[in-house]
Amino acid sequence: MLDKKVAELLNSQINKEFYSAYLYLDMANYYNAEGLDGFANWFNIQAQEERDHALLFLQYLQNNGELVTLEAIAKPDKVFTQHIDPLKESLAHEQYVTASIHAIYDAAYQVKDYRTMQFLDWFVKEQGEEEKNSEDNLKKFELYGTDAKALYMLDSELATRVYAAPSLVL
Ligand code: FEO
Repeated sequence: MLDKKVAELLNSQINKEFYSAYLYLDMANYYNAEGLDGFANWFNIQAQEERDHALLFLQYLQNNGELVTLEAIAKPDKVFTQHIDPLKESLAHEQYVTASIHAIYDAAYQVKDYRTMQFLDWFVKEQGEEEKNSEDNLKKFELYGTDAKALYMLDSELATRVYAAPSLVL
């Protein structure tokens, strides 16, 4: 049995992760319409990873005997007018998710819930990587994005990203 507040925060994280998947699908959708298939590929894979994260939170709660409540997933409401917009938005979003994970960690720490803290350790590390990836994309775009040839190269680079299942197994 988990602490009530910890369980509620873990449950709400499921929705945040599914929303992240939805948001990144929307970004992929935008790049697809712009003809930047590599960028679209990168965000499609990011969306898959977010879905994996949601399912890990769901599984963890189920493994601990909690009844999960699945809430409605909000419509992505961002409007992208420039190619750099989703890159800025994804970095801000990952920083928001990091803060959310840290808040759960903090709640678990308060009640000495070492099991949840150990579960969250993987996500703390993962968020570090996700923020770094988003920062790298943004930096590269700021350096090369206005040059058509360089943008083509960057798009080709992002097209090489392949999906990998999460290393965390419950
Ligand atoms: Fe699941 Fe990008 O945080």
